[in-house]
Amino acid sequence: MNTLLISLIALTFSIGVRGTYDPVDWSAHQWQAPLPTDSRGPCPGLNTLANHGFLPRNGSNITIPIVLNAVQDGFNFQPTDLLRTGAKLGLLTTDNPDSFTLQELALHGTIEHDASLSRNDYALGDNIHFNATVFATLNNSNPGVDYYNITSASQVLVQRLAEDSIANPNITNTVKEFTIRTIESALYLGVIGNITTGVVPKKFVQIFFEQERLPLEEGWHRSDVPIDDDNFGPLIGEIGEATPWAPSGPVTCPWIRLQPEGTPTIVN
Ligand code: HEM
Ligand SMILES: *[C@@H]1O[C@H](CO)[C@@H](O)[C@H](O)[C@H]1NC(C)=O
Ligand SMILES: *[C@@H]1O[C@H](CO)[C@@H](O)[C@H](O)[C@H]1NC(C)=O
Ligand SMILES: *[C@@H]1O[C@H](CO)[C@@H](O)[C@H](O)[C@H]1NC(C)=O
Ligand SMILES: *[C@@H]1O[C@H](CO)[C@@H](O)[C@H](O)[C@H]1NC(C)=O
Ligand SMILES: *[C@@H]1O[C@H](CO)[C@@H](O)[C@H](O)[C@H]1NC(C)=O
Ligand SMILES: *[C@@H]1O[C@H](CO)[C@@H](O)[C@H](O)[C@H]1NC(C)=O
Ligand SMILES: *[C@@H]1O[C@H](CO)[C@@H](O)[C@H](O)[C@H]1NC(C)=O
Repeated sequence: MNTLLISLIALTFSIGVRGTYDPVDWSAHQWQAPLPTDSRGPCPGLNTLANHGFLPRNGSNITIPIVLNAVQDGFNFQPTDLLRTGAKLGLLTTDNPDSFTLQELALHGTIEHDASLSRNDYALGDNIHFNATVFATLNNSNPGVDYYNITSASQVLVQRLAEDSIANPNITNTVKEFTIRTIESALYLGVIGNITTGVVPKKFVQIFFEQERLPLEEGWHRSDVPIDDDNFGPLIGEIGEATPWAPSGPVTCPWIRLQPEGTPTIVN
């Protein structure tokens, strides 16, 4: 009787807490290094989802439903307006009518931007692959403790912009790039770390960026709180408010690259 009651309570509790998403069968989502023929791009989040088979491992023929389901299954990130918009912007990077490859996402000026955390600027060379020199700024931030947080993420945004403004005098730094960069910082804090506190172990972030692997053996687990506008919105807001920023560079007006063809930059 007691055992039954405890089981019922446990079942109810587990449905209450975990009923918002299906458990992951991690045996079907082991990390595998990409093959040379697999498409990978400038987004460590989507590359990681492909390396774990939440996205097609070949990184190709990615549709909006495929990407939204993968982000939900792998990260417990709900298909919010923000995520749907990001996914749809991916379609502007390709001539394919309804799907993109991970590499196509690197089209400069659609989502891809200057002063990234882990990739070089398009104008400086390789804007697709992980670059350890660029990543050193984030990697070395928040010295003395073993985690990153909202304060350190803001400092990294400021520092990357300062370094990159010297390396690339033609930097594009309008409110559009600032907004996307702020969202991306919220992604590594809140998806790889804790969506409520905005705190993430350094080790998790290093593995995520350097290996494009989910640090499961190291203790990472998917957020048990669904990530949505209610918690992700405030995290973006707090990072943005903590970050002193002003536009700079030759391009002063936000613009968006609508298709792969055409000139790589639009100067207003
Ligand atoms: C919740 C899932 C996602 C996570 C955790 C994630 C994570 C990130 C992070 C941390 C960056 C910054 C990389 C850097 O600055 O070096 C980034 C960049 C990027 N993401 Fe994602 N992302 C996600 C979803 C998406 C979606 C849905 C798209 C579009 C289809 C996308 C496209 C991109 C692109 C194009 C960049 C390159 C921006 C740049 O650095 O120039 N991401 N992502
Ligand atoms: C990539 O993988 C998906 C899912 O397995 C498959 O439908 C698609 O045809 C593949 N694309 C290429 C270019 O191999
Ligand atoms: C799948 O992706 C490949 C590579 O981008 C492309 O050539 C092919 O047309 C795509 N197939 C479909 C059905 O979209
Ligand atoms: C990495 O970025 C640095 C700084 O912009 C650059 O000097 C270096 O050539 C890049 N490395 C690679 C392999 O692209
Ligand atoms: C990041 O820092 C750690 C030490 O905290 C170091 O082991 C690792 O090599 C660094 N990564 C890069 C790409 O420099
Ligand atoms: C982030 O961590 C640093 C170092 O421990 C600390 O000084 C700072 O107050 C923290 N920021 C937040 C928002 O907790
Ligand atoms: C900046 O743009 C100018 C004009 O397009 C070009 O001549 C110059 O090489 C660019 N500099 C860099 C560092 O990209
Ligand atoms: C996030 O941190 C809060 C407060 O410390 C904690 O209650 C919660 O379990 C953490 N969530 C995750 C997903 O680790």
